[in-house]
Amino acid sequence: MKKKIIILPGDGIGKEVTAEGKRVLEKIAEIFDHTFEFEEAVIGHDAIESTGQSLPDETLSKLRNCDAILFGAVGHPKYDNDPTLKVRPEQGLLKMRKELGLYANLRPIRLFDELLESSSIKAEILRGADILFFRELTGDVYFGEKGRKDDGRTAYDVMIYHRYEIERIAHKAFQAACTRKRKVTSVDKANVLESSRLWRETVQEISKQYADVTLEHLFVDSAAMKLIQNPRSFDVILTGNLFGDILTDEASQIAGSMGMLASASVGDTVGLYEPIHGSAHDITGKGIANPLASILSVALLLDISFGLKEEADTVIKAVEQTLKAGFRTVDIANPKTVKEKIVNTQTMGNCVLKQLSMINEPISQ
Ligand code: IPM
Ligand code: MG
Repeated sequence: MKKKIIILPGDGIGKEVTAEGKRVLEKIAEIFDHTFEFEEAVIGHDAIESTGQSLPDETLSKLRNCDAILFGAVGHPKYDNDPTLKVRPEQGLLKMRKELGLYANLRPIRLFDELLESSSIKAEILRGADILFFRELTGDVYFGEKGRKDDGRTAYDVMIYHRYEIERIAHKAFQAACTRKRKVTSVDKANVLESSRLWRETVQEISKQYADVTLEHLFVDSAAMKLIQNPRSFDVILTGNLFGDILTDEASQIAGSMGMLASASVGDTVGLYEPIHGSAHDITGKGIANPLASILSVALLLDISFGLKEEADTVIKAVEQTLKAGFRTVDIANPKTVKEKIVNTQTMGNCVLKQLSMINEPISQ
């Protein structure tokens, strides 16, 4: 298979983890005899510094002409601490999602048994948890009208959803549930918000087309509690942009660390794959970032954008074997275990590459 992939490292640890994700793609190409052509482009803080734009036109046109995108992270503390700055790295990410029509953000909460003890949640609560989030990605307060009035002393961000936006993500969530445990939990705040009442009404209607999928509704505050109380009770969670952003950071603790969570953003055209974590400038340059979220994003890329299921499963297996062998970056290290080997970003990447070669020895002979 011949494919063109744009690598968009972005800022902070985005660069460090994406480098490892790219190496995994190269290895997969070598083992399975594919031709992956790579091209890099800039986004975020780096892009602002070099072009004045957080998503330069040149980057956008490259993204429109490729088969998949592997993205790192955007952000810089300079902007976090100065809310008055008008051009911000995150705008590049939001514009990219909107321009490419990436309305469905899939965030699988995959719990590797080896990391059961690394989570701050008790192992007996976590064991067997397997959740797939469908976070709506191009609507909500993120893209509603926003502004200031009264000489800047009043600010607003409109939470807005159109029916078609809810319908298309609901269909994706129900379709996925059909291949899993056949349960969709729709999360909203319908006891307060009109946009949530439209959300609930629409999801109820769509659910009629999926008679063998159980639909439950939860208010977002209750969902936040139940995620930690009983994560096993969930299968597919369908929610809006803002609630999905918050709940998936929370849910990352079920998988042990933010450094383990991959995501896929899809819509009608090209797919974008990225870890859910941010640019983490506090650890940038130290070489300690966990590359597994980027590597697991590569697995999603291979599966969803290229339909290469075997290759995707091989990547997941290699990650599992690496963890079994005891290799850990600091974020997933369990202080109680002496058998673990704490490694840096690149070494973790090397371990996965080694496992990939080992898993595939019989096939390539
Ligand atoms: C995420 C991030 C982004 C979001 C930020 C960086 C704009 O937190 O992908 O979850 O809020 O969507
Ligand atoms: Mg987030």
